[in-house]
Parts: sequence; C-alpha cells; structure tokens
Amino acid sequence: MAQIGLIGLGTMGANLAMNIADNGYGVAVFNRTTATTHEFIADAGDLAANLTACETLEDLVANLTPPRAIILMVPAGAPVDMQIDALLPLIDKGDTLIDAGNANFHDTRRRETALAEKGYAFVGMGVSGGSEGARFGPSIMVGGPESSYAPIKPIIEAISAKYDGAPCAAHLGPDGAGHFVKTVHNGIEYADMQIIAEVWGLMRDGQGKTPAEVGALFEGWNEGRLKSYLAEISAKVLLATDSKTGRPAVEVIVDRAGQKGTGRWTLIEALQLGTSATTIEAAVAARSWSSVRDLRAIGAETLSGPEAQVDLSEADYEAAMLAARIVAYAQGFDILRAASTEYEWSLDYARTAEIWRAGCIIRSALLDDISAAFRAEMPGGSLIMAPAFADLLAETVPGLRKVVGAGIAAGLPVPAMAAALGYFDTMRQARGTTDLVQGQRDFFGAHSFERVDGGSGHHGPWRD
Ligand code: 6PG
Repeated sequence: MAQIGLIGLGTMGANLAMNIADNGYGVAVFNRTTATTHEFIADAGDLAANLTACETLEDLVANLTPPRAIILMVPAGAPVDMQIDALLPLIDKGDTLIDAGNANFHDTRRRETALAEKGYAFVGMGVSGGSEGARFGPSIMVGGPESSYAPIKPIIEAISAKYDGAPCAAHLGPDGAGHFVKTVHNGIEYADMQIIAEVWGLMRDGQGKTPAEVGALFEGWNEGRLKSYLAEISAKVLLATDSKTGRPAVEVIVDRAGQKGTGRWTLIEALQLGTSATTIEAAVAARSWSSVRDLRAIGAETLSGPEAQVDLSEADYEAAMLAARIVAYAQGFDILRAASTEYEWSLDYARTAEIWRAGCIIRSALLDDISAAFRAEMPGGSLIMAPAFADLLAETVPGLRKVVGAGIAAGLPVPAMAAALGYFDTMRQARGTTDLVQGQRDFFGAHSFERVDGGSGHHGPWRD
C-alpha cells in the first residue's frame, strides 16, 4: 500500500511524485492517459520501487490505506472540480484531497466548504519552484484544516526545500490561505521580473549594452545584496546563445509575455480588499502591453520621444532594483495583511517570509531580513517602516530616483520602478493631496468630508 496518492503526471505532478518517492514514501500515481503513467514509471529508474502505477481511479483508491491523502496536480479551474467529482464516489469520509495547483483561492474556499459538508477534508496547497523545485524541493504554502494537514505534514516537510535545515513548508491558515499566499507570491514574482526587465531595457536601449554585458552584471549582482533566484536566472538567460543563429538567445525571443492569471488575481484581490499593489499592477500591465506588438510597431513609427540615452552606473541600478524589490515585497505583504483581516486567517507573515527563503521563485537574500523584521518592531505593520528596511531604503531610494528619473527623461519605460517610487514617496507624506479630492467630491456630489479640527459629515463653503 502507498502512503499518498497523486493524480496528474504533467511536468509538475511527475516531478512532485518523484520527489515524494525519493524521500522514501510510497506514491500511487494516476494519469488520465494511461500511457503517460507507464512511461513515467519506466523513466523513474530506482524510484519505481516506491511508485505504484494505477490505471483507474478505483485502482488508486484501492492502493491507499484510509484515511487516504490524494494530491491533485491537474490544471487549475474546471479540471479540479471534475477530478473531485470523479473521486467522491470512490473515497471515504475522512479522506483528504490536496489541490497542489495554482488555484484561485475563491475556488479553494468553495471546495473546502462543499467537501467539509460531505465529510471530506480539502487542503489547498501552493507549490512554488517550477519543475526543478517540484523535483528537488519546492516552497509549500498550505491552507485548510490544520487537522487534515497534520497527517501529511511529515511528507510535505520532507519533500520541501530546506533553508538552514528548516523545511520551507508551513500550514498558513484555513481554507484558501495557502493558495492566496501562493497567488501573492506570484504577484511579487511578476513585479520582480518586471523590475529586472526594466533595468535590462535601460541598459540595452539607453546605453547600448549587449546581453552578455548585462548578463555579466547580473551575475555580479547575484553575488551581493540582490542575490536571488530571479537575478541568477536573468544572468543565465542573458548569457545564453541561440544554437540556430549563434546570436544571444534573448534576441530571438518575441517580446510578448504570457500570463496564466495569478499576477492578475493578486491585483484583483488587492483592489477588492481596498488596498493596492502598484508594482504588481505595473508588471501585469507590462505583460498586457507586450501582447499588442502590432500596435507598438505602429507606435514606433508614429509617436515621438526624446533621445533614448541614459548615463547610469552599476551602483545606481543595483540600488534601484533593491529599493523597488523591497517595495514589491512590502506591497505583497500589505495585501496579505488585508486578506488575513478580511478572511480571519491570522496569517503569520514572518513564517511566510521564512518559507520563501528557499525553493520558490522569489527566494532572495532579503527574505531572511524580512522575516526578522516581521518578528521585531514594525511601525504600522509595514515592511518599509521596519527600522532595518527604512535604513536600507534611505540608502537605495536615491538610486531608484536617479534611475526612474533618467528613464523618464530618456523616454524609456520604467513603470514598475516608477510605481515603487510613487508608493514610497506617498508613504513619506503625513499630509497628502486627497484633501483637494475630498473637496472636489463634496463640490460635485455633496459627499462631505472630515475636518482636521474634528468631526465628519462637513460640507465646504461652495455649497452655501
Ligand atoms: C512558481 C511559479 C509558477 C509559474 C506561474 C506563473 O512559483 O513556481 O510562479 O507557479 O511560473 O504559473 O506563471 P505565469 O507567468 O504564466 O503567469
């Protein structure tokens, strides 16, 4: 008998099953296409001893001892519901279904409630780290009933990435908490990728640097304060050569970025929760704008701008990326805080930062300091106000200002970095400019305003 079941042997599912088997657990696997299951086992080498190929769902269920735990690794959305519906007649009350895909957390909440009513447990588990992570240690964000996580915790911790020996897996809260945290993780991922891409654009278009030159800079930055998986892979992408043409690989890639939805969901949820995440918004927008290639081709002929030239140093870029990255994380955590309040999750932000330190796509040298900051004094609950980060921003924001200013003056787009700076400068203002917005609202709609000397419901003299 196997200890855990896994359905869906696509890239992520297959790698996760191998990881579980590699950690000494027996896994019963099922895939809709039986040939895929057999190919998977045939390619599994020694690990096949821990893998049981199941040709039917009945087979899978029969190979697991109740209470069963079954991981679903099928595409997010309708396929998850279809898989659950197919399993329900076969499993017993008390069994646990674990959705390890990139689900929308609203779906996870709905499924958790519906299954709980029927006596089944449902766990929504965000898994980050791509295929390599799934195989050798991802970061795992778990949501659902804690009692349902307890029996699978040893397996989940064993297969997760480790940071200083500690597992990068945690139960973060009930129902959709795990999938929500994973969604926001992806939002931050979008922002960080866009920030890096903006720096690439300034160097390529404003300074005439080659991919190899920029790649070498990223290699160096990855040795310092910007150390992160995304800096590391950016260097590798920029330094790679296309075998067909001999040209830098990045030059043969069409500049149209795909997106599966998690970045957009982060933003939608942020807005629904009455907060905002402008760095993530800029990144989502940049991907959308990237898709209108034909329009941009017309724009290149039709719209005019200044000479695209910047004079920025390596240190300017390093500081700018660091400052913008801090703001992206801060905005991500702002969304987590808003959601935790709204859904009563009691999210542990320090623990969240800890399990992002290894295995996931946004892992970076900053996360250890971020978790420490959440465990210490954090005025207003905002990362940028934590003493260590306020100091780091004091040192790096001048670089961000210089880079954003230069980009704007040269007509080179820097939407994510500019958004980060806008947020930072707004948060520095004890008195902002929405006094006038409130006056305007009262003027045209009698919406009323609060007075600085007390009381709400006031109207201005323009209404007399
Ligand atoms: C991860 C990644 C992974 C994937 C996302 C984003 O944490 O391992 O975030 O989940 O890359 O699906 O994909 P898109 O860029 O296509 O939205």
